[in-house]
Amino acid sequence: MDSIFSLILIVVVTLGSSTLLGSKAQSIKSAHLLDLYIRNYTFKSLDKHFRTGIVQSVNLPANLSGIRVDTVRLRCGSLTRYGAHLKEFHLSSGVIVHPCIERVLLIRQNLGYNWSAIYYANYDLTGYELVSPVVGLLAYNTDEDVKSMNPFQLGIVAGEKPLTIDFTNITRFTIADGIIPLCASFEGDGRMTLAKPPPSSPSHVCVAKRHGHFGLVIASPPEQFKKRISQWKVAVGSTIGAALGAFLLGLLLVAMLVRVKKRSRMEALERRAYEEEALQVSMVGHVRAPTASGTRTTPVIEHEYIPPPR
Ligand SMILES: *[C@@H]1O[C@H](CO)[C@@H](O)[C@H](O)[C@H]1NC(C)=O
Ligand SMILES: *[C@@H]1O[C@H](CO)[C@@H](O)[C@H](O)[C@H]1NC(C)=O
Ligand SMILES: *[C@@H]1O[C@H](CO)[C@@H](O)[C@H](O)[C@H]1NC(C)=O
Ligand SMILES: *[C@@H]1O[C@H](CO)[C@@H](O)[C@H](O)[C@H]1NC(C)=O
Repeated sequence: MDSIFSLILIVVVTLGSSTLLGSKAQSIKSAHLLDLYIRNYTFKSLDKHFRTGIVQSVNLPANLSGIRVDTVRLRCGSLTRYGAHLKEFHLSSGVIVHPCIERVLLIRQNLGYNWSAIYYANYDLTGYELVSPVVGLLAYNTDEDVKSMNPFQLGIVAGEKPLTIDFTNITRFTIADGIIPLCASFEGDGRMTLAKPPPSSPSHVCVAKRHGHFGLVIASPPEQFKKRISQWKVAVGSTIGAALGAFLLGLLLVAMLVRVKKRSRMEALERRAYEEEALQVSMVGHVRAPTASGTRTTPVIEHEYIPPPR
């Protein structure tokens, strides 16, 4: 029996780890770490000719190819007063940057399809599939002399009107048979929220209350959406693997349950044998043991206090 347990355990563990190893290996696995690399390269790329209010694209090294970064430096006051437009992102007037002393550097990332894949590793996207690259909008403190500083992240919070993210130019998903993609918002704490695009806006436009990373997702696997064969293989393989794993785990549980049940039955048998033995002893000695110690009726207060009527 024990050898069966260990065999099942080994199979379950092997299945689990091979599924993990099978996922795409990227040199950077953490979405947050990627943000830090992009921040560092962006600040490094800015020179003294960088002018406030002018959007500039950032050159990244070859090992981050596929990621597009654009940046703009703004005065916090004018950002709040006039809002801003940075590629997919539109910030309406009233938007607040906090804490902001004077100027803010906005960084917009388009991770492209290759790098967006790390969001599958960092967030629980089971049942969903990205149909747009992940885009991000982050803010950092800055001043005129960008080189001499230690940038830290600032918060962007929408005023009355939300931020909007227009995926129309960057999604490869065309609405077919009424499937409207959902807006995924990837929060800094590892949570992901899904929302329908607001009914008033085009279906590839999402809204947000604050800075962060965003993407369009659809439930997967969709019947109408053609996937690459390799993706199918991965999906089918991992489904079968998961089913097999669940089945084996079920076997293991059943085996354990049977074992526990057997043991408790043995214990019950032993207890009964012991009780019968004790009964025989007491009958031999002509002593009637009290049937139960807890059955004496407890005294009841006979006359309840009844308050006199008023
Ligand atoms: C970014 O730059 C800071 C300051 O120069 C450094 O401490 C940090 O390790 C860098 N991070 C990455 C991910 O390169
Ligand atoms: C990219 O390559 C450079 C060297 O060219 C290296 O210093 C840097 O750490 C690499 N960055 C990442 C994100 O792998
Ligand atoms: C994405 O990855 C594929 C396969 O690894 C590669 O051929 C392609 O050049 C990459 N695309 C970009 C934009 O880096
Ligand atoms: C989409 O592309 C069109 C044409 O290139 C451009 O005019 C428009 O500003 C783009 N929209 C966004 C949100 O990037």
